[in-house]
Amino acid sequence: MPEPFIRFQNVNKVYQTKNGSVQAVLDATFDIAQSEFVAIVGPSGCGKTTILKMLAGLIPHTSGAITIGGQRVEKPQTDVGIVFQDSILLDWRDVLSNVMLQIDIRKMDRATFQSVAMDLLEKTGLEGFERKKPYELSGGMKQRVSICRALVHDPPLLLMDEPFGALDALTREQISMDIQHLWMEKRKTALHITHSIPEAVLLADRVIVMSPRPGRIVEIMEIDLPRPRRLDKLPPRFNDYAGHIRDLFKSAGVLAMD
Ligand SMILES: Nc1ncnc2c1ncn2[C@@H]1O[C@H](COP(=O)(O)OP(=O)(O)OP(=O)(O)O)[C@@H](O)[C@H]1O
Ligand SMILES: [Mg+2]
Repeated sequence: MPEPFIRFQNVNKVYQTKNGSVQAVLDATFDIAQSEFVAIVGPSGCGKTTILKMLAGLIPHTSGAITIGGQRVEKPQTDVGIVFQDSILLDWRDVLSNVMLQIDIRKMDRATFQSVAMDLLEKTGLEGFERKKPYELSGGMKQRVSICRALVHDPPLLLMDEPFGALDALTREQISMDIQHLWMEKRKTALHITHSIPEAVLLADRVIVMSPRPGRIVEIMEIDLPRPRRLDKLPPRFNDYAGHIRDLFKSAGVLAMD
């Protein structure tokens, strides 16, 4: 068996605060294969963002081991693309130069990557908006710009932390479809964090289901559905998967149906 691209082994995270320590993640063990799309779903405060930040090397883990491509994660990783809940665009840069920010920071070749940026903008429905400033865009369009910005330098790993959290339901659905198409084309290894059970099942090869804090992995579910998955043509098995995750949350006391 080849070594998985990403590996979490018995990872714990304890935050030290003024009022004592907070165990945010408890004994997390999972791996992600190259080109796999994994979603993490779990209630608020269960440690999802903490897992993503530890993987990106933005915060240290307290114990256990995290590796990317066999290398231990001990400092911020440069070879990843991250999409946060807020789009965090620079107001004074237009759409195209917000996307090109990654290229400028990394001192990569502008001429080569400008066409990559234009291609990504076109694929996410932003053709014609290259010269607009962020304040001229809707929330959904801003989030699409940040997806393009996360992908433009062609990182092998894409991390998304509730990228659609602040968007309306229709825009969420549309961007989910865009993400699916981009992923099918580029086959980046992806970790996608969400509160939404249907969104996790729609997008992922496997879904990691987490318990309330201290966040533990309750189950890792394989989603065996052919792609492209269409929201208007979902097979009955889609509901079986979503129902199973709902049942896990019900038994953990996260969801009450009556
Ligand atoms: N810097 C910090 N210092 C202390 N505690 C923290 C810190 N960051 C997060 N926590 C705590 O760790 C736990 C997990 O936080 P985290 O942000 O990872 O949750 P989450 O699953 O991403 O939640 P949400 O779905 O609301 O974004 C929470 O109880 C939170 O209060
Ligand atoms: Mg979070």
